Amino acid sequence: MAPRSVQLRCPAKLNLFLEVLGRRPDGYHELSTVMAPISIYDTLTVSEGKRFVLEVEGPPLPGTNTVEKAWRAVAKRRKIPGVRARLVKGVPAGSGMGGGSSDAAAMIEALDRLFDLGLDRHEVAAEIGSDVNFFLERGPALCTGRGEKVAPIASGPELHAVIYWPGFSLSTAAVYGKVREFLTARPRVVIDFLNSFGREGPEGLGRRLFNRLELAAFALHPELAALRKRLAELLPQGARMTGSGSALYGLCATGAEARRLAGRVRGTFAGFVAPAALLSREASWKSRKSGSSSSGEGATSSARSAR
Ligand code: C5P
Repeated sequence: MAPRSVQLRCPAKLNLFLEVLGRRPDGYHELSTVMAPISIYDTLTVSEGKRFVLEVEGPPLPGTNTVEKAWRAVAKRRKIPGVRARLVKGVPAGSGMGGGSSDAAAMIEALDRLFDLGLDRHEVAAEIGSDVNFFLERGPALCTGRGEKVAPIASGPELHAVIYWPGFSLSTAAVYGKVREFLTARPRVVIDFLNSFGREGPEGLGRRLFNRLELAAFALHPELAALRKRLAELLPQGARMTGSGSALYGLCATGAEARRLAGRVRGTFAGFVAPAALLSREASWKSRKSGSSSSGEGATSSARSAR
């Protein structure tokens, strides 16, 4: 029987490797990026209602919410009743951590399950944004095309991170617009990173982290480059930017180390600071599992135990 309400946790992500291969005729950029979900979450609860209503708990978000975009994209394909959706934000919006995309992926899944639609979830996801497909897969993945082609990859040793978001957002479109000045005829290949990801801990992997968009973001916002430099002095593996920014992160080996380093960063920097675990596919599945009013399941807290 289809559940009467679905609750899903929507993890954030980090880009561990991101190379921009070139500009495409459709205006997007061809990417080669490795992303991993992390244990910082939004929570989406969806139940049947008379019409579409979305309640967001957290700072106001600009533009049409991706949860509403997902609802519209599904409603365009299938005749569905209205829904009441409640989104509790835990992921800073406009940080490059993929919160909006993760919320959209969760909405697609929630509607599919609530109304038993048998959707081609990936087809719907690609219409909403380049990162939404990644969040349907729930695990580390190599993403290509404009980011929507997702190839899951196996996790290696346990990894943790300290996340820092300075509280201002960069425009994704502006960062991609600027990155064209930094494209090279010999782009970085992802293979060395992939080999390292399955085998090495934060020290080995830390040397291979890469994000081509940093050059563009730092050129547009020199203050972010300065913050990165200062942050890197506090973190043993240095600091990188995720996605098109402006969140920065540094890898470490254990949850205890991540919490200790986060405390240190919090003492020096103003903004959002959090320790997080990089989630394997298994950990991500468990942490995302829904609460359902008909089955009585609750959202699990396995991501906490994965820290
Ligand atoms: O797909 P999404 O809505 O996340 O993209 C936001 C903007 O980022 C796009 O309008 C485009 O300007 C830029 N982008 C890009 N190439 C990508 C992904 C995003 O140029 N692969």
